[in-house]
Amino acid sequence: MKPLIIANWKANPGSVKEAKRLFKAIPYNRQVVICPPSCYFYLGKKHKLGSQNCFLETGAFTGELSPEMLKSLRIDYVILGHSERREYFKETDELIREKVKACLKEKLKVILCVGEKKGQNTLTILKRQLSCFEKGIFAVAYEPVWAIGTGNFCNPEKAKKALDFIKKRTKTKVLYGGSVNSSNFKQYLKQGFDGVLVGGASLNIKELKKMI
Ligand code: PGA
Repeated sequence: MKPLIIANWKANPGSVKEAKRLFKAIPYNRQVVICPPSCYFYLGKKHKLGSQNCFLETGAFTGELSPEMLKSLRIDYVILGHSERREYFKETDELIREKVKACLKEKLKVILCVGEKKGQNTLTILKRQLSCFEKGIFAVAYEPVWAIGTGNFCNPEKAKKALDFIKKRTKTKVLYGGSVNSSNFKQYLKQGFDGVLVGGASLNIKELKKMI
């Protein structure tokens, strides 16, 4: 199976001009899913698209997006439980579990993020966070929080332990995320990861093209 690349742009880029430039420069590839801020979805017609988050339902929930909206826009993928959502927006496992269910109901391809903070026991945290796992989830992304956006990527052999733990429990695709770039991504594929979730390096066209 060909490896997947999930590009998580987070709240970037800051202008529509730059978003247009990025979309134009990224070659279409069926193994690549771009997750831009939702205000740029309309620019990515050519590409496979994903949302970085999603709420539970349509209705009076100011500022949110619903699974139904994503489905009707043909945004097939959705990242849930990213560590930045957990940390800055106080998302709990309980809420993430509800979101997973709501997105699966609309048949969205859910990418559930899990991973420990510095100093925490990896397997203890994974066990707790995998309580959000449901049959039908598209992929689980192992993203050690200390490795995200730091350049301090996780030793691939160490990541393999998390991979095996997640695979055994979920029998689904497992991705690695956390300071992935064109020089280190192959090491994770070699360990058996089904793909990578890329933040910073996915905003750099040269880097992204190299990985593709
Ligand atoms: P990073 O982000 O590649 O910039 O470390 C990964 C992520 O947050 O998904």
